[in-house]
Amino acid sequence: MKIVVIGGTGLIGSKLAPLLASRGHEVQQASPSRGINAVTGEGLQPALVGADIVVDVSNSPSFEDKAVLHFFESGTRNLIAAAKQAGVRHCIALSIVGTDRLESSGYFRAKLAQERLIENSGLAYTILRATQFFEFIGGIADYGRRDGEVHVSSQLMQPLLSDEVAQALADVTLGEPANGISEVAGPEAAPLADFVGRWLRKQGDTSKIVAGADVPYFGAPLALRTLVPDDGARIMPTRFDDWLGGAVRSA
Ligand SMILES: NC(=O)c1ccc[n+]([C@@H]2O[C@H](COP(=O)([O-])OP(=O)(O)OC[C@H]3O[C@@H](n4cnc5c(N)ncnc54)[C@H](OP(=O)(O)O)[C@@H]3O)[C@@H](O)[C@H]2O)c1
Repeated sequence: MKIVVIGGTGLIGSKLAPLLASRGHEVQQASPSRGINAVTGEGLQPALVGADIVVDVSNSPSFEDKAVLHFFESGTRNLIAAAKQAGVRHCIALSIVGTDRLESSGYFRAKLAQERLIENSGLAYTILRATQFFEFIGGIADYGRRDGEVHVSSQLMQPLLSDEVAQALADVTLGEPANGISEVAGPEAAPLADFVGRWLRKQGDTSKIVAGADVPYFGAPLALRTLVPDDGARIMPTRFDDWLGGAVRSA
């Protein structure tokens, strides 16, 4: 089958593409750096000619409220139109666990808009919501830096390894359309502050962590389980500490 991966050169896309190719499929990694832009529509229609499946793992270069909404709305509309014209039989998008519980964040409003456009597109679809990637925990720490301290939520998260996101996404891509949402997460739920602390200690960073239940997550208030998947999520095996140990050993 021909599978087009929108955002195919990014963190997840560059892991997903070889996995799909190794299962015998023709994979096209589509992104602006390869002349295919979902937001402007440049190169999109020709890329989708003959495609059976399209997977969207693109991400906005800007997380500013208006810019990110424009990115996911325009990109998804263009993708849906091109997929219909090409006769695509399964459209998959990668989203985030808790997206529907984080509407006070501009980024999550944009992800929800992306999900709703796909749900209402008339295409056969599957949305896979993943929890935070291990690689993203450093970004959570950096976002919380203030006056030499790191402010971070004490509510729960359940992050996972990006390679295992790609594995779960490959299985979803090659499965039947769910016409619904499924979830994937890592094996361990713990406070954000706990994961951020372990990350900082591994970097030799001794910044003081200020943890609180009311510290927002990228502008959105968190309840205890906002970022944690529901029962029935697929749980991937790699633990954060095992990844951290490996990252340090291979550095
Ligand atoms: N970070 C997390 O913890 C997390 C958790 C769950 C879900 N997600 C979701 O996972 C998805 C993938 O994230 P990622 O970290 O793999 O992203 P990433 O590494 O930032 O990669 C973004 C990809 O999008 C492409 N892109 C940018 N603008 C585009 C456009 N106009 N048209 C088509 N492609 C475009 C980029 O192409 P170029 O290389 O050419 O610029 C790149 O291939 C996102 O939708 C995100 O919401 C993230």
